[in-house]
Amino acid sequence: MKLGTPLSPAAVKVMLLGSGELGKEVIIELQRLGVETIAVDRYANAPAHQVAHRSHVVDMTDAKALRAVVELERPHFLVPEIEALATDELVRIEADGLCTVIPTARAAHITMNRERIRVLAAEELKLPTSPYAFASSLEELQAACARIGFPCFVKPVMSSSGKGQSRLKSAGDVAPAWEKALSAGRVREARVIVEGEIQFDFEITQLTVRAADGTHFCEPIGHVQKDGDYVESWQPQPMREAARQKARDMAAKVTGALGGLGIFGVELFVRGDEVWFSEVSPRPHDTGLVTLVSQQLSEFALHARAILGLPVSTDMVSPGASAVIYGGVEAGALTFEGVDEALKIPGSELRLFGKPESFVKRRMGVALARGTNTDEARTNAKRAAGSVTPRPA
Ligand SMILES: Nc1ncnc2c1ncn2[C@@H]1O[C@H](COP(=O)(O)OP(=O)(O)OP(=O)(O)O)[C@@H](O)[C@H]1O
Ligand SMILES: [Mg+2]
Repeated sequence: MKLGTPLSPAAVKVMLLGSGELGKEVIIELQRLGVETIAVDRYANAPAHQVAHRSHVVDMTDAKALRAVVELERPHFLVPEIEALATDELVRIEADGLCTVIPTARAAHITMNRERIRVLAAEELKLPTSPYAFASSLEELQAACARIGFPCFVKPVMSSSGKGQSRLKSAGDVAPAWEKALSAGRVREARVIVEGEIQFDFEITQLTVRAADGTHFCEPIGHVQKDGDYVESWQPQPMREAARQKARDMAAKVTGALGGLGIFGVELFVRGDEVWFSEVSPRPHDTGLVTLVSQQLSEFALHARAILGLPVSTDMVSPGASAVIYGGVEAGALTFEGVDEALKIPGSELRLFGKPESFVKRRMGVALARGTNTDEARTNAKRAAGSVTPRPA
């Protein structure tokens, strides 16, 4: 693999589709290797826009607009950072040989839709999953919930970060869940998945890197989710040997089926020696922010290296933890108080994403901490996050 010089005809060019906090770290890693970077998002001054060589504001669910920006920039690599893309167009872009889609256009296409990835994982790869059914109307949903039983989850097939999701305790919850899914789904297609609840001991993200020399596994990341959004993560999550091996085997299978090069976040539920597949992101995972302090190469560095065909190492340097900093207010620009207090905590770091607008539940930053063990790291990450107070500027 040869690298080049940015802003010259010899540049290796990477275009990022989606420019949030995860993409920002990917761009920083690519910048360090002298890669020319182009960041695309649907709004101006997104986090990765602020660190890329060039940026564009594009509705990436619009196939024509997506094609146009790719033809304008002619990147070598097209790197999705979000799910909500015109993935049919990604498939055409790849087929036309315009650029390499990371990890593959098919992977982006399959994983953006819960039905496609569930059918692949459960029916083709025979991975254990929660019991599930699909529904396209309230009547179908009522029948599906009755079949799966309660408690269960209802999720739009196209949505992420917990949007439009409900946990149902009884038949009385079905109609409100249907309404919520309809109003929050990414597209107006009325289609939901019903999943029986798995009673897990804990859930993990199994970060898995497909690199030129093969598949590598990171130590498991434990996390806590609230309302379908991660609030805290740590690495390593202790696991029984049998479960740890199953997690790796399942991750190898699903990432192998999706193919290509790059990092994947495989979400798994664990109880005792049992492991269930939940879903997979063919890109860095938000719970993997912890790797910024816990691994020699963060998940972002691993993604950059894998994309470029370079060697990787998934070695850890320390137990670590991350804790999310929410906006807490509806506002434009923010100021952050207490940053000094947060950084006084031993082994702590902050990432403030620089998002131009704050919502109560928008992730605006993250606190990270190393520790002699994950308990200490978690305590310190939470203390650091709690020390930071966002206020309207
Ligand atoms: N079948 C299930 N059994 C038990 N818990 C579940 C189930 N489905 C979802 N959950 C809980 O809800 C969380 C979010 O679910 P899921 O990952 O499917 O949503 P999402 O919208 O894709 O979220 P994100 O984009 O943040 O990953 C899970 O991490 C888990 O804590
Ligand atoms: Mg998830």
